[in-house]
Amino acid sequence: MAEPATEAQALCTSGDLLERDKAVVFDVMLWRAPARAFALRFDGKVVAYMNRCAHVPSEMDWQPGEFLDADRRWILCSVHGAAYEPADGHCVGGPCGRGRLMPIATEERDGIVYWYPSRDIQPVVFDDDAGHADAAAPGRAP
Ligand code: FES
Repeated sequence: MAEPATEAQALCTSGDLLERDKAVVFDVMLWRAPARAFALRFDGKVVAYMNRCAHVPSEMDWQPGEFLDADRRWILCSVHGAAYEPADGHCVGGPCGRGRLMPIATEERDGIVYWYPSRDIQPVVFDDDAGHADAAAPGRAP
């Protein structure tokens, strides 16, 4: 089996993430299953988490990419209203208890935002072992 990816993954430009604005949602593999994550800018810093509530593991945005409450202060789960601190993902109210969003490491360099895979959270890859008989999929680098 291939080694897990560790290298930085380009996500978007710095300008795509405005202060306390809409998040960039992206696809990942969480524990080898497709899942979604999101990145947003809070107090100038880019933060990223799995789009997965600590209460019930469901996606949280009330519209695609909209995670913050009306005051742009908390990450709010649209399902039952759990509130999380954007800076560190800790639950601050609601049914998430002492839970925390799963964080994803990010870095901003030369106007580009990157995220870093971990053992649990990996990039989506087009795997030749996934049962596709036609390995020459269009648009793939050789
Ligand atoms: S699923 Fe998020 S608060 Fe219940």
